[in-house]
Amino acid sequence: EHCFTKSSDGFLYCEGLKVEDVMESAERRPFYLYSKPQITRNFEAYKEALEGLSSVIGYAIKANNNLKILEHLRQLGSGAVLVSGNELRLALHAGFDPTKCIFNGNGKLLEDLVLGAEKGVFVNIDSEFDLENIVAASRIAGKKVNVLLRINPDVDPQVHPYVATGNKNSKFGIRNEKLQWFLDAVKAHPDELKLVGAHCHLGSTITKVDIFRDAAIIMVNYIDEIRAQGFEVDYLNIGGGLGIDYYHSGAVLPKPRDLIDTVRDLVLSRNLNLIIEPGRSLIANTCCFVNRVTGVKTNGTKKFVVIDGSMAELIRPSLYDAYQHIELVSPSAGAEISTFDVVGPVCESADFLGKDRELPTPAKGAGLVVHDAGAYCMSMASTYNLKMRPPEYWVEEDGSVVKIRHGETFEDHIKFFEGL
Ligand code: LLP
Repeated sequence: EHCFTKSSDGFLYCEGLKVEDVMESAERRPFYLYSKPQITRNFEAYKEALEGLSSVIGYAIKANNNLKILEHLRQLGSGAVLVSGNELRLALHAGFDPTKCIFNGNGKLLEDLVLGAEKGVFVNIDSEFDLENIVAASRIAGKKVNVLLRINPDVDPQVHPYVATGNKNSKFGIRNEKLQWFLDAVKAHPDELKLVGAHCHLGSTITKVDIFRDAAIIMVNYIDEIRAQGFEVDYLNIGGGLGIDYYHSGAVLPKPRDLIDTVRDLVLSRNLNLIIEPGRSLIANTCCFVNRVTGVKTNGTKKFVVIDGSMAELIRPSLYDAYQHIELVSPSAGAEISTFDVVGPVCESADFLGKDRELPTPAKGAGLVVHDAGAYCMSMASTYNLKMRPPEYWVEEDGSVVKIRHGETFEDHIKFFEGL
């Protein structure tokens, strides 16, 4: 079952609540609306898929860093994947167990690595200079660091180039021809580094699990090689990247179970602990971005629905040409169906949420949602054109609507200049 459903008379519901009614009670538009039970269901799907394996689910905080959502995932048993000092601080603030945290990134700063070393998080080695910094951080913190080698397996994830990361010319990870150099360097620092495993991350929005299997085969072969040199590595981290059905086309896409099942035999045959780093597949479909229609206009051959939200709050369509499904929250009885670009008020032609969408011509003030807005939407929001970042709400198990983040205000902006 999914949290957002359309009734036969054409109203959009979230966990049994009419979205239109939620809009009435929200302090302002646009806003993000999540289903807390859907977050739980998505996490449980991963947990069930992982049964029989020793594993860590490292939720990729970059996908959505709402503190209430983080605390909820932590309570469900999640670990966290971090890519900056502030994400590390936030994970600690949300109470994540540091031994279930993995610090990733190609440009980790020394001071952040020191904090990571002090707290005992796992750290991925991304480059020669990164290794140097991790050694330095270990000395400053006076703690040995558990490290994984982020290996770049050169498997094509078949996704938009901006979200492909594991190909050989990518800025991430280390290439196989350098593996021996890194193993020797780790060996040379027995007081600072303990190599516990290998990591890869192929990219995002991947919709074929064969791709994960291809990468996992390469990775377990590396692990065999690493073990043959006397290292006791027992973690395989296959990263994140599982896609979702953004098109709402009914296409059957791989589920967490399919992903885990495709690597299960490899993990078991080497007696490994599996780490996975899902972001999108845990959180994207738990949320809608909720707007009101400001008006409808025509120019040349084009028809536009102008809404109050924009590329400032939700940039994926502008940045990646990403498709996110759009619909009205209530039936527009009798309204003529037409093809519209759904656009915001921001002063750029890149400011669109959807192109060439068939919609009933909406009345001024009609509610309109952008689906699957839980991942990489609020976390990538900006204040461009001083469209302040929107509030967030979730629907809880008992059907109550609770605010889980304040909307940013004009006064917040003015505060940046106080006392200068
Ligand atoms: N692990 C690492 C090392 C990553 O770099 C990422 C995402 C993940 C895990 C989580 O991947 P996921 O399961 O969410 O696909 N802003 C883009 C997506 C960028 C993904 C960056 N890395 C978008 O909106 O599509």
